[in-house]
Amino acid sequence: MKFLSAIFSLLIAVIILPAQEDISIHQPKHLEYYNYDDDLLSKEFHAERREALRKLLPENSAAVIFANPIRNRSNDVNYEYHQDPNFYYLTGLREPNAVIIIYKNPQKFDSIITNEIIFMQDRNPKFEVWDGRRLGVKNASSYLGIKTAISNQDFASFEFNFDKLKGLFYITPEDDVRDDKTDKGDLHSMLKYFNQKIENVEHATPRKLPELMAMLREIKQPEEIELMTKAINITCDAQIELMKALKPGMTEYQSEAIIEYVFKKYGSEYTGFPSILGGGENSCILHYTTNRKPLKGEHLLVSDIGAEYHGYTADVTRTLPVDGKFSEEEKTIYNIVLAAQTAGIEACKAGNKFWDPNGAATSIIAKELVKLGIIEKEYEVKKYFMHGTSHYLGLDVHDAGLYGPLMPGTVITVEPGIYIAEGSDCDPKWWNIGIRIEDDIMITEAGPVNLSAKAPRTIEEIEKLMAEPSIFD
Ligand code: GLY
Ligand code: MN
Ligand code: MN
Repeated sequence: MKFLSAIFSLLIAVIILPAQEDISIHQPKHLEYYNYDDDLLSKEFHAERREALRKLLPENSAAVIFANPIRNRSNDVNYEYHQDPNFYYLTGLREPNAVIIIYKNPQKFDSIITNEIIFMQDRNPKFEVWDGRRLGVKNASSYLGIKTAISNQDFASFEFNFDKLKGLFYITPEDDVRDDKTDKGDLHSMLKYFNQKIENVEHATPRKLPELMAMLREIKQPEEIELMTKAINITCDAQIELMKALKPGMTEYQSEAIIEYVFKKYGSEYTGFPSILGGGENSCILHYTTNRKPLKGEHLLVSDIGAEYHGYTADVTRTLPVDGKFSEEEKTIYNIVLAAQTAGIEACKAGNKFWDPNGAATSIIAKELVKLGIIEKEYEVKKYFMHGTSHYLGLDVHDAGLYGPLMPGTVITVEPGIYIAEGSDCDPKWWNIGIRIEDDIMITEAGPVNLSAKAPRTIEEIEKLMAEPSIFD
């Protein structure tokens, strides 16, 4: 009897299952083929983050956040699409032409009662053949955990009743939103309709929401720390591989190739920012990205890089002598930067001010440059150390945060540097020495944790590693 009923259930399953597939566009394994990663942020993470935002919203208000625009490079070529970090944090959706509305309190719209709605692009076999699979409105609730998903084609006609709320806080993309005239649900159209809908809504404001998002994003959740650790480990592995492979005769772009090979090999989707590989005089250009110079033995190479893994970026800098040996002048400057960084990292204590690491590092650099006669007065330090030591790190390389006291769960960089460009007003023996050392520091109750400690920092460790063979030799 049991056997018969098992056969019967199997028959039913065989008959019923195909009917559940999306036969309309003949892609039965659609969701399986939509995503190949099994360690993305969970839908529960995003749902909990929406709940955290809801807690910060005043009674009877809503927050509106749009997806990033598709940015055109030229003619038929767009830049690689990258989701807006705030939108990604709250939804997990990596597709364009979408907007999420998060209400403090549940709202009633005709037959629906909900406290969150995503408007998104629906599936379209014609476009998916060109640009890749789309999640589809019908899958959004189960896949993203967002309670209500509606096609972006219906955004214009949807009655939001924004005027009945007491507050409406929004973040809109600032520029470069192109109009796809064939699509009334594209970002351009939704922004146009949104602006019409809030035209007479006095309580609609672009203020406040960026601050609330910064408050949330500053403190990382354990799932975020896990992805950041992955991004940072990949980045350290890339620095280590470059240390072994770097040789006179290589070019900056070949050193970049080694870095980005390692990023891709270990699953990083993007670089978190354009890789900075600055040799010789380019070591003194803070955000140098041309990366074309042939490298000689006497050059220093600043390697400021960050793999991005599932949205989260690392930001780690090492400065290397191209021939594997630091000169005496380079050693002197290097050890000042290292001492400044060590003091900066020690100042990364919960409760300290955001700028305390900067103060600790700057004071050491100023004193030591005076001792060397490179500057006369300590206040001249900004001539050779012209940036701060720290920024928040996360979904953005310069991540959102409030710049108040350092709090457990926050990750910041500590990255002092000294850059003595050719022609500087000091002994020419220091010219073209540009050195930055940057690590990613997690603030905890028990003190600072250097998440990028895996990449060697001392002169001895670096010279030792540079003498080792590389897989690229
Ligand atoms: N990589 C850019 C920075 O260090 O801020
Ligand atoms: Mn940085
Ligand atoms: Mn950096």
